[in-house]
Amino acid sequence: MSTEEEIFDIFPAKSDIPEEYFFDEIVNQDFFLINGELRKWQGDQQEVYSPVLLKNNGNSNSVLIGKYPLMDKDTALKALKAAEESFDNGRGKWATMKLKDRIDYLNNFLSRFQKKKDELVKLLMWEIGKPKQESTKEFDRTIRNISDTIEELKRLDSDSSEFKIEENIVAQIRRTPLGIVLCMGPFNFPLNETFATLIPALMMGNSIVFKPPKHGVLLHKPLLKLFQECFPKGVINTIYGRGEEVVAPILESGKVNVLAFIGSSQVANILRSSHPKPNRLTEVYGLEAKNPGIVLNDADLDFSVNECFAGALTFNGQRCTALKVLFVHSSLIDEFLEKFSKKMKDIRFGMPWEKNVVITPLPEEKKVNYLSELLKDAQKHGASIINEDGGKTNKTFLYPAALYPVNDKMKIYHEEQFGPIVPIIPFDSVEEPLQYIQESNYGQQVSIFGKNPDTIAGLIDPLVNQTARVNINSLCQRGPDTFPFTGRKDSAKATLSVFDALRVFSMRSVVAGKNTENNKELISDIAKEDRSNFLSDG
Ligand code: G3H
Repeated sequence: MSTEEEIFDIFPAKSDIPEEYFFDEIVNQDFFLINGELRKWQGDQQEVYSPVLLKNNGNSNSVLIGKYPLMDKDTALKALKAAEESFDNGRGKWATMKLKDRIDYLNNFLSRFQKKKDELVKLLMWEIGKPKQESTKEFDRTIRNISDTIEELKRLDSDSSEFKIEENIVAQIRRTPLGIVLCMGPFNFPLNETFATLIPALMMGNSIVFKPPKHGVLLHKPLLKLFQECFPKGVINTIYGRGEEVVAPILESGKVNVLAFIGSSQVANILRSSHPKPNRLTEVYGLEAKNPGIVLNDADLDFSVNECFAGALTFNGQRCTALKVLFVHSSLIDEFLEKFSKKMKDIRFGMPWEKNVVITPLPEEKKVNYLSELLKDAQKHGASIINEDGGKTNKTFLYPAALYPVNDKMKIYHEEQFGPIVPIIPFDSVEEPLQYIQESNYGQQVSIFGKNPDTIAGLIDPLVNQTARVNINSLCQRGPDTFPFTGRKDSAKATLSVFDALRVFSMRSVVAGKNTENNKELISDIAKEDRSNFLSDG
């Protein structure tokens, strides 16, 4: 079969799907978690269709895989109220609990969460079209992240159990919660990236209002019971539905202390401006990026092609860290294009459960149209699609396309495509990619491919001040999750990593007093008799 025929025939009939991946029963998410209760939702529901279509009588049709509540403002405000009551102005059970006791809750959650692997991996595949190997990685990485968080919490607890004496003042310093956290994750890593903010926010004693991403809601359904049973009532509350209906009123109340949001800078701007007391709001954002790959004239060509290919196209290029524009030195460009298009010809595409697929159907509505428009716009301004069949579409599927030569008149030069399109720009002087990065609205990461230590060093020094991570002969990536992950300009606000996230969602509070005999006695009595959870030596 030709590639074109394969694209035309990409969607399976039910009989083509291996039984273990059947999706027979729709996931009816008709309840929500508020104040420790799983309450039945009686109102309208949003239908969820998979990006994977099914063939029937010669037509490919959308498949309904689930429904979730389209909440109203009143219900959303009840979720906020439950979080408020649980935090109780810092007097709540969870907010005042010893860190080591909170760790016990998380350990219990982790052991039950681990058993959900098969169910969640399957939901990731059907709900967002994520290839099985990537969905499995996302689950495993989340487990690792929680385990690492537990270890970091233990270190934090042990370090802050010490009393300090400076200038005849005795003190204990511990991290304390910030209050109510509104937590909103992205569709491309609906589990891992959501948990990378939700778990640390929770563990530092905050109370959470959690809105799962629009694509990636259903996979949280099996977790609601776990949240309910593993944590005290009211510390996690869920909301669903349209942002203007459920998110805006929560922010407009002025009661949210932290907004943890992974999405677009445009939406972040709207959200921030809805808060009437912005000085009280801590912002934790993961936003757009346009990470460049720079292939220098002495780069190992085969290695660079492979790395740029994986960096740009893994999971359809739907990683915030994907290489979204490639600068290739003119002396290498012809060979680079030839090798890159050969790799694109061999790319595996198909359904998420098929072995080693890289390109799968896309979950966002109108995404294929948007990407096709980007391709047309680039062609109008002088670029060509260099790989055979690049840009061919079939409903939710777009065959990957590499565009060359790309210039600043094209939308793809400026916009984050977040899809399987690879723009390639030739350059003669490194000043050209440097200029691009300086002028860009984004500043997350960059990859440099080359061998000359002077040239690489000469790029590292300016680029660490323009981005948050410089990758040498390696694609851009967030992991390992113990490394700091952030960005400059419109790419991020606050730094996340296992270590940093615990600090982002908390602040240091101090209990201090003159080191007099009376105070010594008083403090020792409180600590030894376990009268306070803060002022304590254990
Ligand atoms: O979309 C952003 C993800 O956190 C990317 O993670 O770069 O490690 O694949 P990764």
